[in-house]
Amino acid sequence: MSESNLILKKICKSYNQANNSLSILKDISLEVKSGDFIAVTGPSGSGKTTLLNLVGLLDTADEGTISFNGKDLTYLNSEQKNKFRRDNYGFIYQNYNLLENFNAIENVALPLILNGYSKVEAIQRAKNTMKLFMIDNRSLHFPNSLSGGEQQRVAISRALINNPKFIIADEPTGNLDSMNSDLVFNYLKNYVESENMTLIIATHDEELASKANKRINL
Ligand SMILES: Nc1ncnc2c1ncn2[C@@H]1O[C@H](COP(=O)(O)OP(=O)(O)OP(=O)(O)O)[C@@H](O)[C@H]1O
Ligand SMILES: [Mg+2]
Repeated sequence: MSESNLILKKICKSYNQANNSLSILKDISLEVKSGDFIAVTGPSGSGKTTLLNLVGLLDTADEGTISFNGKDLTYLNSEQKNKFRRDNYGFIYQNYNLLENFNAIENVALPLILNGYSKVEAIQRAKNTMKLFMIDNRSLHFPNSLSGGEQQRVAISRALINNPKFIIADEPTGNLDSMNSDLVFNYLKNYVESENMTLIIATHDEELASKANKRINL
């Protein structure tokens, strides 16, 4: 298995708010090695989602660089960023971002279909992944008829389905009760370890963060 290193160097990000510049991230540096489990912690509003969106190439930093195996990703155009994300990332959004017009299993299967799998095979694989997260019994539900925790487990299944190198998860268990949170997180962690994936999560959960091998507190 080849090493895949993601390096953030002196990342700065501000937002413009009512003519004021609001500095959120200042000189954040981080080295992510393949197989790492990284926890991004900090209070609400400290910039966890902002940092994950930058790592996920969903937003751009004002200063600093993000590179992958020595290649600077800062200068990719949006099509190249999309391709990089499709090839390397599974993203679990804080608000899930499930597609409302597709049912649960179609949401999970979609990344495979976009990568050229037949619909039949994609649906079969989606079903297997959803089983791991005990959500296959809601396959035909549309997102608006799923509970928050169920949507979260669909979103986790969708992020894992392509076997990406990196799982970037924004509060992946934020909507689950503590028993289900432990259960889902342990499945996620075991899956990530067995596939030699790298896991980057933002979390408020101290117990969950304590399992990480690297931490960055904002
Ligand atoms: N598009 C935006 N424009 C202006 N300000 C923004 C924007 N997005 C985020 N912010 C501000 O940046 C700060 C950091 O937001 P962010 O969502 O990264 O926090 P967070 O650590 O993920 O919080 P939470 O734990 O509540 O999810 C917040 O104060 C927020 O108000
Ligand atoms: Mg957030």
